Amino acid sequence: MRILITGGAGYIGSCVANLLLDEGYEVHIVDNFSTGSWSLLPPKAKIYELDIGFELKITELLKKIAPKVVIHFAGSVEVEESMINPLKYYDNNISKSIIFMKSCINANVENFIFSSTAAVYGFSDKKIPIKEDAYKEPKSPYGSSKLILEDLIKDVSSKFKFKSLVFRYFNVAGADKKLRTGQIKDPATHLIKIACEVACGKRESISIFGNDYSTFDGTCIRDYIHISDLSELHLLGIEYLLNGGKSKILNCGYGVGFSVLEVINKVKEISGKDFKTYIKPRRLGDPEFLVANNELCIKTLGWKAKHNSLDEIIEDSFMWEKKLNTF
Ligand SMILES: NC(=O)c1ccc[n+]([C@@H]2O[C@H](COP(=O)([O-])OP(=O)(O)OC[C@H]3O[C@@H](n4cnc5c(N)ncnc54)[C@H](O)[C@@H]3O)[C@@H](O)[C@H]2O)c1
Repeated sequence: MRILITGGAGYIGSCVANLLLDEGYEVHIVDNFSTGSWSLLPPKAKIYELDIGFELKITELLKKIAPKVVIHFAGSVEVEESMINPLKYYDNNISKSIIFMKSCINANVENFIFSSTAAVYGFSDKKIPIKEDAYKEPKSPYGSSKLILEDLIKDVSSKFKFKSLVFRYFNVAGADKKLRTGQIKDPATHLIKIACEVACGKRESISIFGNDYSTFDGTCIRDYIHISDLSELHLLGIEYLLNGGKSKILNCGYGVGFSVLEVINKVKEISGKDFKTYIKPRRLGDPEFLVANNELCIKTLGWKAKHNSLDEIIEDSFMWEKKLNTF
């Protein structure tokens, strides 16, 4: 069973690729290595160093491989960078994805999974887990670019023989259980990776952006999902689509939130290292509470989370960070 993955040299794509190979799928990866790395690629995957915007080459490749499902991870992923350089995000995440979708339609791809994000929701003023049909008001060009793509996918699905699952990831964290892949972004932008870098001595301290939110300890609350559970959701998504499941948009999170302070304290506890934290002003575009309502995801895919534990997420992130530091 052939699957084509875009962005498979990145954090999430490489983890999903490993799981699919473990499960016996034939995995083909398209990546331009703009942020991805050869070091994360599973040895058994077939690699094509290509940009998703190369319409003719990609169409030809898709026709040749004839994948049963395409999983589209490739894109630019940093909220803060998108505030500084919005055109980069509209170009890479929209223009190039439109070209990629054209290639998929021309090559008769029928099943498609797309990586969207909780950033499509923007601010949530009520402290309750967010449902898929909640009001959407992205606060960054990154979030807007993903929401536009979601609409585009919906329109394409209604016009062609083309089914889609749109996964809205909340905060993805942790590393592959066998430590084959994990986050390598340098400089890191994710809270847990930054805290683990401090614990490993790669940085001196960590900043907390705002401690005056109306949360129980004043810091922002997020829903952290282990990369291994997220990877399994893609496996279930493939099975769902191939068994005749209809197009859907699904939140991917645990429905449980942890504050920035809780996460930092847990990293200190697990690593056994105390380190400095500094309070800085709030950042633009940081919602105070982003937690998923995951009922639809559980019901649609029959998902049972296996790694739903902040301790486990941080233990695996810390082990991965230690592994990176031994090179
Ligand atoms: N990491 C998270 O917490 C998170 C949360 C929500 C959504 N997402 C989404 O998940 C997907 C994967 O994120 P990630 O954290 O693995 O990011 P990443 O930067 O590690 O991976 C992205 C991959 O896409 C490749 N790529 C980028 N533009 C490309 C192009 N034009 N052509 C070919 N390859 C291209 C990069 O080289 C990289 O390998 C993204 O779409 C992101 O928006 C991630």
